[in-house]
Amino acid sequence: MNVYFNILYKNLRFAHLFALLLLVAVVSFTNADAAGEHAEKNAASSIHPDVALKTYRKLLKEKLKVITQALSTVLKSSFEKQRKVVGILVEKILKFFSEAKVRLTELGIAPGDPFPSDDNIKEVFSLVLENTYFLGKLVLHMPDLVHETITKFPEWKILVQYAVGFSNDSNAFIGVDDKILHLMAQEFEIVEKDPEYVNPNSRKYVEEKQRQLEMELKEMKKVIAKEKKKKQKGPKLSGPRRYEL
Ligand SMILES: *[C@@H]1O[C@H](CO)[C@@H](O)[C@H](O)[C@H]1NC(C)=O
Repeated sequence: MNVYFNILYKNLRFAHLFALLLLVAVVSFTNADAAGEHAEKNAASSIHPDVALKTYRKLLKEKLKVITQALSTVLKSSFEKQRKVVGILVEKILKFFSEAKVRLTELGIAPGDPFPSDDNIKEVFSLVLENTYFLGKLVLHMPDLVHETITKFPEWKILVQYAVGFSNDSNAFIGVDDKILHLMAQEFEIVEKDPEYVNPNSRKYVEEKQRQLEMELKEMKKVIAKEKKKKQKGPKLSGPRRYEL
């Protein structure tokens, strides 16, 4: 945490430093802390994985709420600030995925395994889920920035594929949160895109909309011009008729 804080302090004049710290805190490995939580974890180790998963979903929901709130603060900042934040976060998330993949593999944990009861495993497990969601939110809200940044890392696709697959197989995400996984998988093209899929926050989409609007405007102008011509012709036609009278 201190390392991240120093990096941020040196490199950023960020108006919403607090929000950013919240976000980065999610990325880092944390130490098992409060005694109460510890007792709860130990109690959880003797219960059935399905029950543990149900309990965990509530905790996850709270964590995802924090991510969403902090992200909305970032989205209110300038484009340049967003670029800096995305640059830092994408790198940290990928680094985390890479470490987590090694750690989980060492621990013998494969995607789709039952919800873990071991505290150490649970921590890494949960951080993979949180960071996956976090990256999903980032790419869905700032697609161009994230794509531009993430493709600089040669291993990015393998790592994102692993993390999304792991999260999907965990069954911990439900409802709209689960949707994020499916949307991000399409956005990163790690699954086939639904023909209907669009990201309304992408430059491509905005430009396409703009083009459509301009074309509609042109059409409208044409129609108006035609109408005008008709009206101009009108009196001319009636002219001779009046002359005949
Ligand atoms: C998630 O899992 C379901 C069921 O196994 C599968 O159909 C779907 O393609 C997976 N989605 C992703 C994004 O991995």
